[in-house]
Amino acid sequence: MTTTTLIPRDTLGRTLRDLRISVTDRCNFRCPYCMPAEVYGTRYKFLPKDELLSFEEITRLARIFLKLGVNKLRLTGGEPTVRANVEELVSMLAGLDDGPSVDAERRMDLTMTTNGFLLEQKAQALHDAGLRRITVSLDSLREDVFAKLNGRGYGPERVLRGIRKAEEVGLAPIKVNCVVVRGTNDGDIVDLARYFRGTGHIVRFIEFMDVGNLNGWKLDYVVPAREVVERISAAFPLEPAEPNYKGEVAERWRYVDGSGEIGVIASVTQPFCQDCTRARLSTDGKLITCLFATTGKDLRGPMRDGASDDELESLVRGVWTERTDRYSELRTALTEKPRKKIEMYYIGG
Ligand code: GTP
Ligand code: 5AD
Ligand code: SF4
Ligand code: SF4
Repeated sequence: MTTTTLIPRDTLGRTLRDLRISVTDRCNFRCPYCMPAEVYGTRYKFLPKDELLSFEEITRLARIFLKLGVNKLRLTGGEPTVRANVEELVSMLAGLDDGPSVDAERRMDLTMTTNGFLLEQKAQALHDAGLRRITVSLDSLREDVFAKLNGRGYGPERVLRGIRKAEEVGLAPIKVNCVVVRGTNDGDIVDLARYFRGTGHIVRFIEFMDVGNLNGWKLDYVVPAREVVERISAAFPLEPAEPNYKGEVAERWRYVDGSGEIGVIASVTQPFCQDCTRARLSTDGKLITCLFATTGKDLRGPMRDGASDDELESLVRGVWTERTDRYSELRTALTEKPRKKIEMYYIGG
């Protein structure tokens, strides 16, 4: 039997390629669209340490996911860099890569999505541990707008230093994610594009989504990806570029003058559920197959109760083969919204 026959497909024929691992539910920012400060104040109870998956547990599960077809591991949070010694985990995960000698196609991609606040301190250690590339969230270059959007009053300078450091140590490519909220930072779109044009870094503008239950989402706040492209193109002409891989979330656009590219993530106006190959592992070990899910399958319990690798593999396989999610495609048709969706900081987007 070849390996491919073992790769599970869900009810819509989708394979499992991308595992997003949330390593902590904590964050040093309080973005109002994710962890509003009035809810996540000093008295908020985050998960106690023994409820978090240990690095060994994460690595054990990651190995099982790789067997099932995953070729990209993305560390997220909360904010992954606030988990103590996260670079040790990076090193353990990097050790799972069986290398190009086995199958160049299946070379593992190991990356992280961070808010960049600790990146200046951490970039070298992350790179040395085996992280290849990094994605940094940055919603504005303006002091006041960024301060509002991180909920902590911080200016963007420290994140920009983090990005420069990441470049210096060789993390590449660097992607910069900007969630666009109309009326808050839509005035920053062209400035962000201008700032990163010619640097080799790829800014991606994300449509504001109705994830979680706390961000007061309204369709009026969404700036359609089309509009983002038009606005940037009016200043710096763009042309469409081919996707890097099937199921790529971002639509790529290239500057006609050769000064780089941007991306738009149109999860609201042009949902991409039909190609969704992502699974999420929450901080406390639940397997979640959709960003908009209300529950997940506990893997930590069985693992701590002594389940074998084969048993864990068949749990994951079972969840994936039964998977039906396509929330973003159904969003507008749903008359009743899911009651209690999982919050983004718990599964890391
Ligand atoms: P690359 O590996 O660089 O292609 O990154 P990526 O786009 O897969 O991952 P990233 O974490 O940068 O994703 C960017 C944003 O797209 C996330 O923060 C989410 O807002 C959104 N996103 C990613 N995956 C999904 C998904 O499965 N569904 C929806 N609706 N949005 C997603
Ligand atoms: N809609 C779109 N993107 C979001 N993110 C967090 N909340 C939302 C939302 N409601 C983004 C963050 C970060 C990534 C992990 O998810 O800004 O780039
Ligand atoms: Fe933290 Fe990211 Fe959520 Fe902002 S979006 S509060 S940086 S986890
Ligand atoms: Fe995948 Fe759910 Fe996002 Fe659709 S809404 S792309 S099914 S995670």
